[in-house]
Amino acid sequence: MPDPDRFLVGSFTPVTEEVTAYDLPVTGRVPAELTGRYLRNGPNPIGLDDPHYHWFLGAGMVHGVALRDGKAAWYRNRWVRSKAVAAAHGEPWPGGPVHANMDFAANTHVIAHAGRTLATVEAGPLPYQLGYELDTIGPCDFGGTLPGGFAAHTKLDHRTGELHAIAYFWAWDHVQHVIVDRAGLVTRTTDIPVADGPMMHDFALTSRYVVLLDLPVTFSLNAATAGKELPYVWNPHHQARVGLLPRQQSGNVRWIEIEPCWVFHCLNAYDDENGRVVVDLCQYHDSFDVSTLWAAHGPVTLDRWIIDPAAGTVSQQRLDDRGQEFPRVDDRIVSERHRYGYSAVIGEITRAITVAGDFSDDAFANALLRHDLARGTTETRDFGREATVGEAVFAPSAPDAAEDDGYVMAFVHNPRRSASDLVILSAQDFTGEPVATVHLPGRVPLGFHGSWLPDSH
Ligand SMILES: [Fe+2]
Repeated sequence: MPDPDRFLVGSFTPVTEEVTAYDLPVTGRVPAELTGRYLRNGPNPIGLDDPHYHWFLGAGMVHGVALRDGKAAWYRNRWVRSKAVAAAHGEPWPGGPVHANMDFAANTHVIAHAGRTLATVEAGPLPYQLGYELDTIGPCDFGGTLPGGFAAHTKLDHRTGELHAIAYFWAWDHVQHVIVDRAGLVTRTTDIPVADGPMMHDFALTSRYVVLLDLPVTFSLNAATAGKELPYVWNPHHQARVGLLPRQQSGNVRWIEIEPCWVFHCLNAYDDENGRVVVDLCQYHDSFDVSTLWAAHGPVTLDRWIIDPAAGTVSQQRLDDRGQEFPRVDDRIVSERHRYGYSAVIGEITRAITVAGDFSDDAFANALLRHDLARGTTETRDFGREATVGEAVFAPSAPDAAEDDGYVMAFVHNPRRSASDLVILSAQDFTGEPVATVHLPGRVPLGFHGSWLPDSH
């Protein structure tokens, strides 16, 4: 059985303080063209006394580094001030809307849209808006235009300025597609009927379709009332299927049944020249236990699904059989054909979870991958056995730069220093020396998702 404390030890260990540091030491050179913030969200529980703690349920803490003028101007880490987090700090709650009494310190992603910096989470609660320096402004329902909860993962179509999300909530008999326009207002919602209350962590977007993943991890009242770590379980009775929701017209979803599997994350998707939809994603094969995060049936592979709405088929190709997660593309190319993708190796997590107490610092990931999907090649950036690295994001060198003309950045934990670095790699020299290594004053625990947010946006 997994160690019940597995998400509280090693590189998961929460930090206990909020830190502010200026003009950070750097090895190498911070690219002068990078002006903005790299922000990353993740769970960081306050207090360590929860016997049922699951990684997904810790209060959100956003870690950020501001880059400008070729320097690392500051590092900050701040808890998102939900009611509970504000109370724990002896502070007044900033106040604001709450959906279904589900206030929560959003812990999963951090994005910017329409001038707002938003910490996001799924399954009911609203996002929280943050200030430039990561102070909490309050919950955000997009000026009162969002009818329900929101989502952790969003997709921005850079051509239209539309931000897309799929909201799910255990008490609904549907999931809800939400479009937020470039002014930051919800302009359209579409309810899509589903059975069993499926978890829909991520989705994909193309020029023509919203791609829905209705997979067999569903809400369980039994698990909720039994005090299990998470109220979502593998449900062998739930038919796995992929859905194509047309973006432009109010047509019905085209559902296509598939074999049982689980997907947390899509790399990207696009429409091909034959009317098919191509989705690249990280796939957990067969059943998946979300409460232990145990991939029981081999590594989480990078796969390509080709969905043919006319034929009603989904064909699958293996792109890379190494265990990997947190796939990302250049955010500017979301919904269009991509060539490059980045992901983090997670081959060790299965071993670590199956050996109770063996959650050492090398147990999650110590390498990043750069996939060239046109050439079918992958480069591996290894940070050494003692390091751990999570999701990497791409920052273009200029707004109109080519897809791989820019930088790949990630927090890398260095146990020798008991602290983390922000490592900035050249995308075109992925295995070479880092362009810059920003030495942070403390640890950044392994977390979830982040964004490079240029000040010009
Ligand atoms: Fe995610």
